[in-house]
Amino acid sequence: LKRVGVLTSGGDAPGMNAAIRATVRACIYYGIEPVVIQEGYKGLIENKMDVADARTVANVINQGGTFLKSARCQEFRTKEGRVKAYENARAAELDGLVVIGGDGSFTGAMLLEEEHGLPCIGVPGTIDNDIYGTDFTIGYDTALNTVVEAIDKIRDTATSHNRLFFIEVMGRDAGFIALNTGIASGAEDILIPEQEKNVELFMESLQKSGRAGKTSSIIVVAEGDRGGGGVFELSRAVEEQFPEYEVKVTVLGHIQRGGKPSCFDRVLASRLGVAAVEALRSGDSGIMVGVRDQQVVKTPLERAISKHNQIDNHLMKVAEIVSV
Ligand code: F6P
Repeated sequence: LKRVGVLTSGGDAPGMNAAIRATVRACIYYGIEPVVIQEGYKGLIENKMDVADARTVANVINQGGTFLKSARCQEFRTKEGRVKAYENARAAELDGLVVIGGDGSFTGAMLLEEEHGLPCIGVPGTIDNDIYGTDFTIGYDTALNTVVEAIDKIRDTATSHNRLFFIEVMGRDAGFIALNTGIASGAEDILIPEQEKNVELFMESLQKSGRAGKTSSIIVVAEGDRGGGGVFELSRAVEEQFPEYEVKVTVLGHIQRGGKPSCFDRVLASRLGVAAVEALRSGDSGIMVGVRDQQVVKTPLERAISKHNQIDNHLMKVAEIVSV
């Protein structure tokens, strides 16, 4: 193994820089030349690559975002795009590629490997925590803390005015952020795409919390939840049915994707960046490295993409119990 490329792809996540740094430094440690690729697969297609050294990744472990930049690349979804990418990788003499990203990025890595035989290793980086084969994805912990901090602030004003707030958090297809931040911020209800509640059921639980003497409420809604038609529709429905409530909506949006990575994410990213290089050295390809029960584990990319982590039903029950 002489040269290994690394790129970040898809939605960015805090801790991606720490993962790039670990990949680059693990390469150097093992006598491999690291090559950093700008803008994900787009950079591979457009030949935006540079040989890196240990100092290239100095002072990035504490920075949010990804200094290599990220992109969702349409051209790479085509066979022709992948041919271009592979030709550049071959001209740059890459013997392997580390792809830091989510399931879309892993699909690309899998195709590149299948069609051209370039060994690829996936490192799970997304705030959504929706990747099979790891208990935690890089960026998730930081995003949780950002969301909880924001909801705590909203609760202060919600309580002062006896208001009901719908707070939309990220999670296009997954409710992990919503469920965990909902519990941590004392939400009265949590709506997630995995277990959609229809509006009637939601109204019932709202009535119950009114009867329980609650004068303000925080409802955390994953952006992918369509049980109630989304936060704005829900807020209109509540205003109609309960004119006594003053309803507000906050969409937290992309603040959830930024910020300094937490200690947890920096350590996870360091561990997985090193594991990715070690996997390539031991001849692995077409796999993702993750952490399960405190151990580094490998999962075929195809499984990481096609399977999904399940929402913990017990945690759902906990949310219900602690919000009486
Ligand atoms: O995949 C992570 C994610 O944060 C989703 O939860 C969200 O829907 C999406 O990215 C937003 O992506 P973009 O920044 O491209 O709008």
